[in-house]
Amino acid sequence: MKRTFTALALAVTLVLGSVSAQTITIATGAVGQELELAQAAAQRYMDANPGVTINVLDTPDMADDRLGLYLQFFQAQSSQVDVYQIDVIWPGDLAVHFVDLFEYGARDVVDEHFPAIVENNTVDGQLIAIPWFTDAGLLYYRTDLLEKYGFDGPPATWSELTEMATVIQEGERASNPDFWGFVWQGNAYEGLTCDALEWVASNDGGSIIEPDGTISINNANAVEVIDLAASWVGTISPAGVTGFDEEAARNLWQAGNAAFMRNWPYAYSLGNSAESAVAGVFDVSPLPAGDAMGGSPAATLGGWQLGVSRYSENPELAADVALFLASYDEQKIRAVEGSLNPTIMALYEDEDVLEAVPFFGSLYDVFINAVARPSTATAPNYAQVSAAFFRSVHSVLTGAEEAETAMALLELELEDLTGFPTGQP
Ligand code: GLC
Repeated sequence: MKRTFTALALAVTLVLGSVSAQTITIATGAVGQELELAQAAAQRYMDANPGVTINVLDTPDMADDRLGLYLQFFQAQSSQVDVYQIDVIWPGDLAVHFVDLFEYGARDVVDEHFPAIVENNTVDGQLIAIPWFTDAGLLYYRTDLLEKYGFDGPPATWSELTEMATVIQEGERASNPDFWGFVWQGNAYEGLTCDALEWVASNDGGSIIEPDGTISINNANAVEVIDLAASWVGTISPAGVTGFDEEAARNLWQAGNAAFMRNWPYAYSLGNSAESAVAGVFDVSPLPAGDAMGGSPAATLGGWQLGVSRYSENPELAADVALFLASYDEQKIRAVEGSLNPTIMALYEDEDVLEAVPFFGSLYDVFINAVARPSTATAPNYAQVSAAFFRSVHSVLTGAEEAETAMALLELELEDLTGFPTGQP
């Protein structure tokens, strides 16, 4: 009897063992529709591959918090998560925790993707992650309100935006006390690094640390535009903007309470959804340029990739799932339903995609010319470099410091952190 029981238990263990080996857990984002889209994609994989179970683990919205969670899994060398959605700025910092996808079939598909992103994701010849979607900062503007106040197009410069937002806000306040001119990402987190890099780069102030390793942030053009941004807080932007992430900005905007918003493309399809108060009355344009000589619009390059953990018990299956999720058909669904930018170049010529999200065509240049954060030059210390930058900018936004002092101190901090030289952008 005892023996039979033991044999049975063993058989059950073996069966369960093989079942659990067929279970893949993916850690994904949940900003906007990301979670729902990932779940639907996982279901399609499961339908086509009976016997495989995919768990979709939802992770914190703010990139820094998500990184914190991932680092806990990595530190424990946990096999709990097989596939991670990783930020475009992380391959250099996190490379050691991922398998080389070139060894798991990515070689055949990688050429379909934007070469710059593939290069970004390749560390020491190893493909750390397959590109999933790309991102670039955009200006969302209310077409109805621009018309109502006699403006014939979106602002070309940040000072034009300031003026237009002031006029529209003043007018709208008469009937809507909750109305604001401009919402954006001002919390002390990675999102602020993205917004502030756009201000600085658009004002010909460089990109914090240049690709050659020169620390360039302490310059007059950067100081000027960060001071301008600080002047928005509590005037055309709510004082609480210094606590906003992407979703906070989108919620205020989508309720019809803002004239302008800086956000990523994902806010487009949600803005046109049935629940949105601004459906059909907004459009997107490149972000404004700075007023400095040589200023021109700049969008920060964002985006997310799928990497397979080195600690996964089933890297082969995990890689198959990752490559499936990043495939043409799947990226197409995400583009059409979620306005998430494909990383597969041919999708920018796909008629269904262009019909659903016309600006993928009209603003194509914005996506391919987006400004990279200094993650490659500073790896594996990018997270600290970025934190130093966003904390410093945040202290200016909250009025704790003048930009001139803040950027001078930041320069010293970055010198300490990286050992790099300082110089002009
Ligand atoms: C978006 C971008 C990502 C960036 C983040 C900051 O998710 O795709 O690259 O780090 O926003 O909030």
